[in-house]
Amino acid sequence: YALWLRYAAPDAGAAGPSATRVTQLVVAGSPGVPSATREELQRGLAGLQGGAPANGDAVTRAGALLVGTPAASPQIARLGLDLDGLGGEGYRIRSAVVDGHATTVVAANEDIGALYGAFHLLRLLQTGQPLDGLDIREAPRLAVRMLNHWDNLDRYVERGYAGQSIWDWHRLPGWLDPRYTDYARANASIGINGTVLNNVNANADVLTPMYLDKVAAIAGVMRPYGIKVYLSARFSAPMEIGGLDTADPADADVQRWWRTKADEVYALIPDFGGFLVKANSEGQPGPQDYGRSHADGANMLADAVAPHGGIVMWRAFVYSDEEPVDRAKQAYNEFVPLDGTFHDNVLVQVKNGPIDFQPREPFHPLFGGMPKTPLMMEFQITKEYLGFSTHLAYKAPLYEEVLDADTHVQGPGSTVARVIDGSLDGHALTGIAGVANIGSDRNWSGSHFDQANWYAFGRLAWNSDLSSRDIAVEWTRMTFSNDPAVVEPVVGMMMASREAVVDYTGALGLHHVMGRGHHYGPGPWVEGGPRADWTSVYFHRADGNGIGFDRTRRGSDAVSQYAAPVAEVFDDVTRTPEEFLLWFHHVPWSHPMRSGRPLWDELVLRYDRGVETVRGMRETWAGLDGRIDAGRHAQVAAFLAIQQDEAQWWRDASIAYFQSISGRPLPAGVAPPP
Ligand code: GCU
Repeated sequence: YALWLRYAAPDAGAAGPSATRVTQLVVAGSPGVPSATREELQRGLAGLQGGAPANGDAVTRAGALLVGTPAASPQIARLGLDLDGLGGEGYRIRSAVVDGHATTVVAANEDIGALYGAFHLLRLLQTGQPLDGLDIREAPRLAVRMLNHWDNLDRYVERGYAGQSIWDWHRLPGWLDPRYTDYARANASIGINGTVLNNVNANADVLTPMYLDKVAAIAGVMRPYGIKVYLSARFSAPMEIGGLDTADPADADVQRWWRTKADEVYALIPDFGGFLVKANSEGQPGPQDYGRSHADGANMLADAVAPHGGIVMWRAFVYSDEEPVDRAKQAYNEFVPLDGTFHDNVLVQVKNGPIDFQPREPFHPLFGGMPKTPLMMEFQITKEYLGFSTHLAYKAPLYEEVLDADTHVQGPGSTVARVIDGSLDGHALTGIAGVANIGSDRNWSGSHFDQANWYAFGRLAWNSDLSSRDIAVEWTRMTFSNDPAVVEPVVGMMMASREAVVDYTGALGLHHVMGRGHHYGPGPWVEGGPRADWTSVYFHRADGNGIGFDRTRRGSDAVSQYAAPVAEVFDDVTRTPEEFLLWFHHVPWSHPMRSGRPLWDELVLRYDRGVETVRGMRETWAGLDGRIDAGRHAQVAAFLAIQQDEAQWWRDASIAYFQSISGRPLPAGVAPPP
């Protein structure tokens, strides 16, 4: 339950948390954020040091910790620290001498920056870093760093594998579950500053007065932690709860309805963040129902919240009812013509890849394709396609791979990270969203290791340059132990885990090969059904000659949605990275791979490799028995056993199916599926 904020006393014998002791705690400022900061530091230091330090109004002894803004603390003001360029959320941590006393100073322009700095300092202590000679300067790259809860008002979480929604709508606003505060603490500790409380497949009821009171109560808990509350808005709400007979964005009554609704929301929640909208996708209502564009819809809502400083996040995850030539192309086709027509307070929110949160996808071609529009990244933290909560898959390497991908739109170095942080095209409004994996399970995320995905998302949202390995090290130290005999093997498991999932579910660019509906187990044979693109055979296109989706210029031409240097690589079967081979090319089963093996053999060996990696993870974990508390050790061990069985299931089923099509023998030494 404590997540990475366990603040455990040093492990005996291990290179534990820093020996430096904080002797006095001075947090400057009034109630609100500074109180939350003080409480967190007291709690953290009490745990880490075995006793809370004395609180003071000013530094009076060596070994003090001084936290706040120059405006609230004359002692910080006198230090004259350069806080320019840090904005409201950035901070500095400095070892300094304050009125003759050696002091650690956390200074920021605004209280929220000081809170983030306090969490950074606690992280240093938790991970055993020395506190002397510190000179740290940090500021987030992105303005909006948020979670998207796909939580329904009946507490069912769409694609959630961690129990019911934590939002207890029935008991709100009267009962504020202490979990809300712990949720806010955990998010603030990694710099998350926004949360969308309800599912993108939205129920309009959340905008009724009864629910808005509940939302306001949650916002009150989030406020001292710098977290703004947002809501998913159902486009047809004016009809469903407003008594209008249309939701046409060009209709004056509809526009008035949304303006009045926004005024009502802001009267209750002055710092309300804004709306997230899924429109004209998977059956959701939207402006196209009235012959209007996504921009018409987004701008109408944006105008309603603009007087209050709100924003609209309009999702680009769209696909319409007609059968596409290639579903991967649809978002780009619909949105690129609208570039430059969105109002200033609109962000277009784009999933990391063009299909749907698969274990591996190339970056979405909209990144780099809409220079006049701020684009927001949408990652999935919940593991819809990576084994729900029982399979261990650390997703930071996936996030990192996408953020580091080079769009080449303005020459080399035009990374996706630079598209979304606004530096490439000069946007100030920037953001990133993670589809939350949080529920009311005791461990929040459904498994202990899934907490790492929440943690890593926040850390990368703050700074996309961090490495997934360094984040894994931090998280492991804070969550399990600082003992290198624990950290090294655990980080090794984490770093291998996502590639293992890619291998046993379908490597080399295969995608959308899971069972229909639930998206859990293997289903490369899935065909028929409501739409061609809700099947697997649509995506892998295996036949007697070969396998893969031809997205080259000779095929669906999806490659041309990328900038020329990228398009050329993806269009050329000899230059396409092998991990995307079958994403972009239909190749013969005998296609020669870089290993020298034919494609068929390589694919089979990848399935085997995936199972083998999981077996290795399981062994590694078994070796940690006694070094990790028995409760957590046992659950992870049980989940790894499930994962190993299911990796085998994926492998056996996939090989059996594809062999029935390829008709090729298994490579020497490979066990036939049962
Ligand atoms: C996926 C997912 C849906 C979700 C959708 C979305 O298709 O399976 O449950 O609603 O993405 O992102 O809107």
